[in-house]
Amino acid sequence: MPTVADIRSHDDADRPLTFLTAYDAPTAAAVDDAGVDMILVGDSVGNTMLGYDSTLPVTVEEILSHTGAVTRATEDALVIADMPFMSYGADPNDAIETAGRMLKEAGAQAVKHESGPNTIELTKRLVQNGIPVMAHLGLSPQKVNETGDLTRRATESDEADEILELAKAHEAAGAFALLLEHIPANVAKHVTDAIDIPTIGIGAGPKVSGQGLIITDVLGVGDWVPPFAKQYADVQSEMEAGIEAYMEDVKSGSFPAEDHYVQAEIDGWE
Ligand code: KIV
Repeated sequence: MPTVADIRSHDDADRPLTFLTAYDAPTAAAVDDAGVDMILVGDSVGNTMLGYDSTLPVTVEEILSHTGAVTRATEDALVIADMPFMSYGADPNDAIETAGRMLKEAGAQAVKHESGPNTIELTKRLVQNGIPVMAHLGLSPQKVNETGDLTRRATESDEADEILELAKAHEAAGAFALLLEHIPANVAKHVTDAIDIPTIGIGAGPKVSGQGLIITDVLGVGDWVPPFAKQYADVQSEMEAGIEAYMEDVKSGSFPAEDHYVQAEIDGWE
């Protein structure tokens, strides 16, 4: 059962850390049974599960609800709750209270925020309050209105330098790990070499401490997989096949069959 302290001190290049998202109890149980180190209840729940166009509409209550489902089904993995858009940028006291709810009400062991200069002091205060923090740098989907798209970040030196500085600052503020999303592999390697906490890459190449993916990309649910992801199953096709088979059985009358129902032996009800 990895704790935050285990993850923070992880230093075994031969055993990369594993990190997947999950949003519901059955998926979390499968991810946990497979021995994945960390489960993120990401605000990607917005696009992947809730039918939103982006992560921006996701609410604190939605993350609390999905995190509760995940923690109830997880025995070993470290569960991290994502801080949704506008739940941590405006008022630090509100942010600390909201992050505290993720641990207190939903049972998460840590929180993650999409990080920037504005989250350094916040990270320090969260950690001082006993709330472990994973910082998230590189592509920041919550900033889509500012950046205009969700393409690769840090392809120029000024942005790579900024990520490196923010990585160091969040380590110094007490973050236990860093998520690096959709940045060039050499930038991720440079950041990983420059800090002592582990880095989890999602679309950041091989020279990081662990690899993360979004569960729906892994399982093949939905109709789009980002270029850096690898699809390991085709659950969408399996779902469609199952639903079509049910439709055919109902239409043809072969469901329900005799072993799907009983007859009560009540006089007058034959
Ligand atoms: O919300 C999310 O799923 C994320 C991914 C980048 C892992 O932050």
